[in-house]
Amino acid sequence: MAKKSFYLTTPIYYVNDAPHIGHAYTTVAGDVLTRWHRQRGDQVWYLTGTDEHGEKVLNTSKANNTPPQDWCDKLVESAWKPVWKDLNIANDDFIRTTEERHTVRVQKFLQKLNDAGYIYAGKFEGPYCVGCEEFKLPGDLIEGKCKIHSKPVAMLSEDNWFFKLSQFAQPLLDHYKSNPSACEPESARNEVISFLEGEVRDLSISRSTFDWGIPVPWDPKQVIYVWFDALLNYATAVGLGDDESTDGGKKFVTTWPADVHLVGKDILRFHAIIWPAMLMAAGVAVPKKVFAHGWLLVGGEKMSKSKLTGIAPSDITKDFGVDAFRYYFLKAIPFGSDGSFSWEDMAARYTSELANDFGNLASRLIAMIEKYCDGKIPAVAQNAELSALLRQTVETADSAICALDFQGGINAIMDFCKRVNGFVTETAPWVVAKDAAKKSELDQILYNTAESLRALAVLLHPVMPEVTEKLWQSLGANAIGKIGDQQISNVAKWGQLPAGGAVTKTEVLFPRLEEVK
Ligand code: MSP
Repeated sequence: MAKKSFYLTTPIYYVNDAPHIGHAYTTVAGDVLTRWHRQRGDQVWYLTGTDEHGEKVLNTSKANNTPPQDWCDKLVESAWKPVWKDLNIANDDFIRTTEERHTVRVQKFLQKLNDAGYIYAGKFEGPYCVGCEEFKLPGDLIEGKCKIHSKPVAMLSEDNWFFKLSQFAQPLLDHYKSNPSACEPESARNEVISFLEGEVRDLSISRSTFDWGIPVPWDPKQVIYVWFDALLNYATAVGLGDDESTDGGKKFVTTWPADVHLVGKDILRFHAIIWPAMLMAAGVAVPKKVFAHGWLLVGGEKMSKSKLTGIAPSDITKDFGVDAFRYYFLKAIPFGSDGSFSWEDMAARYTSELANDFGNLASRLIAMIEKYCDGKIPAVAQNAELSALLRQTVETADSAICALDFQGGINAIMDFCKRVNGFVTETAPWVVAKDAAKKSELDQILYNTAESLRALAVLLHPVMPEVTEKLWQSLGANAIGKIGDQQISNVAKWGQLPAGGAVTKTEVLFPRLEEVK
């Protein structure tokens, strides 16, 4: 049987606006994790996409005097896909909820739940936040306004179709109590458990006052509630409900259940309660893990376009480059906690960690090999301390990153980088080079430094794909294969750079900030 993929998803983003750094944060985290898994030799499937139905997108398209489908097409092609390309996101698929492969499978799924008796007709009366696209409970509001959007909610009174969500409160509680890793971090799991221990109400899963959505199969005057439609993307994109003899069915068998749904903490309940309940009702396996990360804050509040605190990724990448952008958010903020973005912190880390610790190490080494060794990697040598530390580093980084502790993983790698800098300073090759009798000592220092940089390039490749590729070329490391093909399990094997390989000077990996245009 074909090997099960490591299947990771991001939320699908509303196309009411262009991406900001909060959206990029999730997508970059997913990209780093999937690139890491690819380098572990795992079969990987990485899905992202766009959430295109519902009132929020409809209202924006109306405000722009554009039919909703045209609006979505335009934003997806001119804003979302290009931003992911610019940020070097290597997703395997991109799903749009207006695609037929999605709408057909959603209708089939809902019909199945209806046939199984989980859907009934009812009346919804209460508050609704269009920003969240969520039916609110009184406790979710402050002075009649949504806590997240600080905007007044609409009062709805509609005849809708309901999903018997309440029936799944106990099965979900049992699930999270016996599989704690199914919802992380612990704070998120506790929130979900306490919600499930309270009163869980059935969920309205259709709307009747507008038509921008997927029609309810047996009642086309109603469209399916946008979250019910959107959550299904994770499964429709990989062939949910298709016969096992078809391509879709085969894909489903090798990808489902998803290994990780990455989400922001504001959309945890949808993913950790409604989504698995929908799957349980249909007799489909629930995802292995929902991981809720924190918010990027600006001025102490969730950064958002609607509050005019949105920052576009290009605002940062134009000065710092894409790799530093990818590195910064994962290194500076523990994944799972909120973190404040500041230009000062970004600039300080860029200069000390990337330009000085990493970039300078690489340029000094290449310059010394050119000067003292005719531009050729010297004879293989093994420094016991560095090679042992590398083994330890790989182990620590691998377990941290697989546990979504990006900060812990990157810290371990950058600590190794610091130690290599210390090694160069202590062994002072520029002094050793003055004594011709010490050529072999000099060669050993330079080989050990080059090997350490080879390992750093591989370990940092998932985080900073461009810069590490440049370093790889510069070390002449293509002789041992492409950087993306290097396996994490093999990184600590010392002595891979072949002696005699030619190094080449590259442009500076991280230009000094005052030189940045
Ligand atoms: N369309 C829904 C998701 C449906 S998934 C089946 C949605 N879209 S969204 O565009 O509003 O948000 C998508 C993600 O971006 C969420 O995980 C949200 O937490 C994240 N972020 C939006 N602003 C953010 C920050 N300021 N900081 C970090 N992440 C943030 O919700």
